[in-house]
Amino acid sequence: MNPRVVVGISGGIAAFKTAALVSRLAQREFDVSVVLTEAAQQFVGAATFAALCNRPPVTKAFDERFPLGPHIELAQDCSLFIVAPATAHVIASCALGTADCLLSTLYLNMTCPVVFAPAMSTPMWEHPAVQRNVDQLQRDGVHMVGPESGWLSCRRQGAGRMSEPDAILAACETFLK
Ligand SMILES: Cc1cc2nc3c(=O)[nH]c(=O)nc-3n(C[C@H](O)[C@H](O)[C@H](O)COP(=O)(O)O)c2cc1C
Repeated sequence: MNPRVVVGISGGIAAFKTAALVSRLAQREFDVSVVLTEAAQQFVGAATFAALCNRPPVTKAFDERFPLGPHIELAQDCSLFIVAPATAHVIASCALGTADCLLSTLYLNMTCPVVFAPAMSTPMWEHPAVQRNVDQLQRDGVHMVGPESGWLSCRRQGAGRMSEPDAILAACETFLK
């Protein structure tokens, strides 16, 4: 059986780059499941990820494919949980353990390594509230990849750009062996 990887995608413009990440994981024959938040679906389409993973992404907390709930079943036997992009909202929800959406509820069920690739504007990234939540997640054992400095979709240069798919994959390498 191929190792299972779950990729959570939250609502930032960088979500388009996560298609390349998912494709690379699928090409390496990982068993990949994608979770899209409601906001993520404004940026990327479910059909893209259905084709890349050979299974439709999970978008709802209540989904008849998962009698026990996707927050339970997707976490079982999962080898790695990647959240890319990780929005300020998802970072906050996971840091606080609010379990107020599928992605943050799933996070609480994950016992495998967890990698977050944050992406947001520079003021958001540098905001003390976001930095507090990032610190909390790191203390809770989450591995952060990036963000990098560079071109942002708000047409500014600065910190907050999501790491490239290959850099995220490289950071996950130790967990994928
Ligand atoms: C055009 C646009 C781009 C956005 N980009 C980001 C982003 O890069 N990072 C972020 O944290 N929020 C971004 N947001 C705000 C999030 O979409 C918003 O906080 C949303 O509630 C996040 O929901 P989610 O974390 O459940 O996906 C953006 C919103 C819009 C309208």
